[in-house]
Amino acid sequence: MLLKIMNAKNTMKIGVFISYSLLATALALPDDGQITAIDLDKEAYETGLSFIKKAGVEHKINFIQSNALSVLDDLINAGEEASFDFIFVDAEKEENMKYHEKVMKLVKVGGIIAYDNTLWYGSVSYMA
Ligand SMILES: C[S@@+](CC[C@H](N)C(=O)[O-])C[C@H]1O[C@@H](n2cnc3c(N)ncnc32)[C@H](O)[C@@H]1O
Repeated sequence: MLLKIMNAKNTMKIGVFISYSLLATALALPDDGQITAIDLDKEAYETGLSFIKKAGVEHKINFIQSNALSVLDDLINAGEEASFDFIFVDAEKEENMKYHEKVMKLVKVGGIIAYDNTLWYGSVSYMA
């Protein structure tokens, strides 16, 4: 719903696992939408790949098997600052502050950064 309301096109997923929310994102984007999807675990990503293919949205996904923090540094160094409409962070929650410092540089003015599990175990956020 968020992606459609804001007309998101260029997006990022940090933490993919078996691609459940990756597929939801891909379905919500227009046909020329893009997702930079980063995870250490390619095997888990491939578990959901058949569903992504069946849904006809594989062309929107650029999967990068790597440590997401270093990919973010690479994107910043490559001049990709302020180029993402939407960034979803769902990797190792203890590192959320580090992710936040980096994704703040990569998101466009008016874009959205969403974090998973910010209310987990009664904690407002892992970023504090
Ligand atoms: C909770 S799962 C993601 C679930 C997915 N966002 C969804 O909603 O379907 C967390 C994922 O983060 C990945 N992960 C953890 N640390 C990472 C890192 N430093 N770089 C990239 N991926 C990482 C794990 O491999 C795991 O697949």
